[in-house]
Amino acid sequence: MSTSLYGGSRHRRVTILDLKAAKVAGEKWAMLTSYEQMTAAIFDEAEIPVLLVGDSAGSNFLGEENTIPVTVDELIPLARAVVRGSKRAMVVADLPFGSYEVSPEQALETSVRFLKEAGAMAVKLEGAHLATVEKLTASGIPVMGHLGLTPQSLHQLGGYRVQGRSDGDAILEAALALEKSGAFAIVLELVPAELAARITAALTIPTIGIGAGVGCDAQVLVWTDMVGLTKNAPKLAKAYRDLRGEILGAAREFADEVRSGAFPSQDQTFH
Ligand code: KIV
Repeated sequence: MSTSLYGGSRHRRVTILDLKAAKVAGEKWAMLTSYEQMTAAIFDEAEIPVLLVGDSAGSNFLGEENTIPVTVDELIPLARAVVRGSKRAMVVADLPFGSYEVSPEQALETSVRFLKEAGAMAVKLEGAHLATVEKLTASGIPVMGHLGLTPQSLHQLGGYRVQGRSDGDAILEAALALEKSGAFAIVLELVPAELAARITAALTIPTIGIGAGVGCDAQVLVWTDMVGLTKNAPKLAKAYRDLRGEILGAAREFADEVRSGAFPSQDQTFH
């Protein structure tokens, strides 16, 4: 087992054992969402160790208002593309709302589809569904948990609000219970930084923060937020580039050149 998640010599996929070793070594790492093969290949080249085929594809790729409508049948082809586009990243598939809450058996059936039909290496589910995590891990499927703001419960939570300001201990207890049930990592979304740091110190599995401060073992961003493609990105996101501006500029320039007759030039012309 490699002791580092970075460094060009890796010729195999990252595993849950590598992530465990990174926590022991105190090595922080980054996770990005990806919904198709091109970004998967680019993020793989950037040595992002874990790619999440998030249900955020519903809003960021399929144009839905939130993550609730996206279905298993819609996410499976996206997960398959991310697996095909990457060589070294561990690919985690989000279980869509309604595809796992009914029973551990329902969750197992859905997860098996993601592993068999898409080639995903793990699944992620929101909330403390402990019997489900036990069932999946006993069946050989690694599970990533997700606590704090769980967007599939948007209506129950009353909006995208910081969680755990008054009931931080409940989130800590849920995190400990998820670890005990077999989860290999836990996403902490939109919780106070002090709480996230406390949970991170209490767990032997990695925490992956999003809007949860610098004290987590890893950080995740939605890729469209990370490159500035999202129009109204949330405060928890950082845009490292202005890709929206770049693409808008390119499209306008192309249209102008077509109108003026500057495109195609001799370079793009055949005789
Ligand atoms: O679907 C998603 O993008 C997520 C991340 C925000 C963790 O769940």
